[in-house]
Amino acid sequence: MTTNRQWLIDGNPRGRALLLSDFMESDEPLTPLNDGEVRIKVEVLSFEPSQKGQLEVISGYSSGGTNGAVMGARGIGEVVESKDSGLHVGDKVLGALGWQEFATLSSSELQVLPDDEMLTAHLGPLGAQGLTAYFGLLRIGKPEVGDTVMVSGAAGAVGSVVGQIAKISGCRVIGSAGGEEKVKWLKEIGFDAAIDYKSEKIKSRITEVAPKGINVFFDNVGGQVLNDVLVRIASHARVVICGAISRYEQESLPAGPANYFNVVFRQAKIEGFLLRGYESDYEEAIERLRGWLESGEIIHREDIQHGFENIPATLKRLFEGANIGKQLLKL
Ligand SMILES: NC(=O)c1ccc[n+]([C@@H]2O[C@H](COP(=O)([O-])OP(=O)(O)OC[C@H]3O[C@@H](n4cnc5c(N)ncnc54)[C@H](OP(=O)(O)O)[C@@H]3O)[C@@H](O)[C@H]2O)c1
Repeated sequence: MTTNRQWLIDGNPRGRALLLSDFMESDEPLTPLNDGEVRIKVEVLSFEPSQKGQLEVISGYSSGGTNGAVMGARGIGEVVESKDSGLHVGDKVLGALGWQEFATLSSSELQVLPDDEMLTAHLGPLGAQGLTAYFGLLRIGKPEVGDTVMVSGAAGAVGSVVGQIAKISGCRVIGSAGGEEKVKWLKEIGFDAAIDYKSEKIKSRITEVAPKGINVFFDNVGGQVLNDVLVRIASHARVVICGAISRYEQESLPAGPANYFNVVFRQAKIEGFLLRGYESDYEEAIERLRGWLESGEIIHREDIQHGFENIPATLKRLFEGANIGKQLLKL
């Protein structure tokens, strides 16, 4: 263990699709640890659409990356060397480990995790994606028993949890996702209906499966899907804007959804939210999410890629719709 392979930022994909050439491989010597630092062997990396923003010079999510910096990413790894009395060799830790084989961080930047069967769930349903689903749906969408809840990007990390929390909340749930395999999986995990937005017409399918309209729409994708659903919202609907991945690679942004005026006729609300701001309630939310995972009320699926060399291509999978469930990579 003398060198550290890393992927560095080497491009600015603002207004275009992410390219493999936006990243450059590098091999750096490992330097001795300072007091208070630990060395972590990176084992699993998490992939999230907002990571593209790290490379962009201007972005709504991030302040923009710097060419030559190690690409940031949350991940889980094992402590292999420690100069902190609170962390021991063999401990499993979660933190901003980055796209590299070894991360050097201080204990205040790391969360120690139990090494059990829920370990990688901390990068999905027990982590940012589960919490985003939980607070976005329950605090902003405010589903009521008997409501019809629709979620876009439903077969992804956030969307699949949203749909299952809506079922637990006593709602009828519709998901939209791209492709037959995703639609099939959504039905397997309890969605009442699933729409393949790539091959079906969203408006007519909603009329079939939810003739009284959508009470809560949790939107992860924006664009055409959002515009179509706005036509089918019910009176006093809540439209939760969580993300808009359909625009993250576009050069020029489209005008707002043409059907927005239905919000007036339906006396509906559209509200955006960010996960940050709910920190004081994380503990309670994680406890409930863990309970639902243990009881099987939430089914968690991981899409695991392998190998250091495949890290950049794995981030692209999110924008290609190749992932089902939470996108991870094991080094
Ligand atoms: N507000 C917040 O605090 C917050 C926090 C976390 C995440 N988010 C947002 O939540 C959303 C989901 O994130 P995630 O981590 O769970 O990712 P994910 O859903 O697991 O993966 C992304 C999915 O987006 C879909 N997609 C990609 N390009 C698309 C396009 N042009 N049109 C429609 N769908 C497209 C693909 O599914 P299909 O095959 O179904 O198209 C893909 O699998 C993202 O928009 C993200 O930015 C927001």
